[in-house]
Amino acid sequence: PHGRITKICCIGAGYVGGPTCAVTANKNPDVSVTVVDLSESRIAAWNSSTLPIYEPGLWEQVQGARDGGADRPQNLFFSTDIDKAIDEAELIFVSVNTPTKTMGAGAGLGSDTSYVEMAIRKIAQVATSDKIVVEKSTVPVRTAETMREILKAIGKPGVHFEVLSNPEFLAEGTAIRDLLAPDRILIGSLLNDHGLQAAAALAEVYARWVPRERIITMNLWSSELAKLAANALLAQRISSINALSAVCEATGADIDEIAFAVGTDSRIGPKMLKASVGFGGSCFKKDVLSLAYISECLHLPEVAAYWQSVVDINEYQKDRFTKRIIRCLYNTLNNKKVAVLGFSYKKDTGDTRESAAISIIDALVAEGAKISIYDPQVLESQIWSDIEKFKGARGDVKQYVTVCKDVYKACEGAHAIIVLTEWDEFSNKQIRKRMDWQRVAESMDRPSFVFDGRNIVDAGKLEEMGFRVECIGKPG
Ligand code: NAD
Ligand code: UGA
Repeated sequence: PHGRITKICCIGAGYVGGPTCAVTANKNPDVSVTVVDLSESRIAAWNSSTLPIYEPGLWEQVQGARDGGADRPQNLFFSTDIDKAIDEAELIFVSVNTPTKTMGAGAGLGSDTSYVEMAIRKIAQVATSDKIVVEKSTVPVRTAETMREILKAIGKPGVHFEVLSNPEFLAEGTAIRDLLAPDRILIGSLLNDHGLQAAAALAEVYARWVPRERIITMNLWSSELAKLAANALLAQRISSINALSAVCEATGADIDEIAFAVGTDSRIGPKMLKASVGFGGSCFKKDVLSLAYISECLHLPEVAAYWQSVVDINEYQKDRFTKRIIRCLYNTLNNKKVAVLGFSYKKDTGDTRESAAISIIDALVAEGAKISIYDPQVLESQIWSDIEKFKGARGDVKQYVTVCKDVYKACEGAHAIIVLTEWDEFSNKQIRKRMDWQRVAESMDRPSFVFDGRNIVDAGKLEEMGFRVECIGKPG
């Protein structure tokens, strides 16, 4: 039986572990929360005033619980002493990365669960008292079975482990908002006494701030698969709207009007229907491919092909957009300056994993373009590490790519601007903090093109300034 949880450990201090634990600690001042990681530099950053990730509202959450104050204790700790944190905790979140496999069977498709297994083995070796082990990472369905087996085989005699699934649904850029007011908290367990008690103990932690009716409990395997299903369905909506955007471009229909028209049907709903240059981020592609691979392994090739097509359309969308740029620029980019506005995979994050910007810049560099990149949040060192492998026609990538701290410098003398992230400041519809498009217009080479991969500019206004504007899913 599990009483009230007083000590939590979280293995993995990343985009999920850090924000999730910061909010959990704030909402449970009497619970001590320790986030551990193998990476010393990441832990040092979490303990500093420059957090390792950019996320609106994160600093306030971390500072409150990490540093304490007159009216609240210090109950959030970041540490590399993994063994100690594991042994002291009653409940352990595993929120390590589960990237796409790069080798062996299922390479490029299945999820690599080696970090999860490493964390589980560590828990099994170190624990001297009973633990609730919580899968927070997104994993293939039935991973909890593997975890249970390893824990049982390695764990010390008399120590009981109960494995729960508690997938995370936060989106980057809105992580704190999502964590403070989640649509639901999902907890999967075995349906025996031990499992249900462990699920109830975890539910208590969330119930401090999440209404009970939003805390959903179900069987382990449903919970694991529900996470993959949610991401697959969200990604599918984007691929569906992006596939329709190609039909719009060929017919004179406008994809924003289509999304509005279909989104007003309450059965469809308006969210996740924004046409774009293609979805990015560390999870959609990874999780949809993982679901496709699981289906393939279960001898369900039609199901696998269906989910694979969601990723295929996404690749097609990026490729289609790049080809349109090349075509509009008279089929030659050689030595033409092209400004790329936005490098992160979405606004309000500095994360660049699977960002559409990476593959699009790669293709433009191959055409001989000179690229200048501006992004308000992504670290310059991150941009270089994402594009260093590109091989243009002329060797070292630094010869034809520059990273600018100033949006006007990036656009000066350019033939074209490509908007790849929907940062508010790029939109000429915003009233405050927007860039001065008139100033940009005067500094560019002519004819001056704007390729809006996010449909955030008012094309009419830009055309009045002399720009030629190409948007996704709108007639050129
Ligand atoms: P991340 O790469 O930012 O962080 C993972 C961290 O785990 C890294 O700092 C790494 O050093 C650490 N780590 C790996 N193995 C370890 C070990 N054995 N011991 C200690 N530390 C270890 O990853 P993330 O974006 O936080 O994602 C984590 C999981 O959550 C993934 O499964 C992902 O699919 C899922 N998820 C991510 C998001 C998101 O928005 N990023 C949202 C929901 C779910
Ligand atoms: C996504 C899900 O939204 C989260 O619920 C989930 O927890 C997370 O994946 C995960 O498992 O990692 P995230 O990738 O951070 O979150 O961000 P989204 O807002 O979903 O955007 C993903 C990509 O799709 C971005 O590149 C975004 O620009 C693009 N997108 C989003 C569109 O092109 N159109 C839309 O309408 C919405």
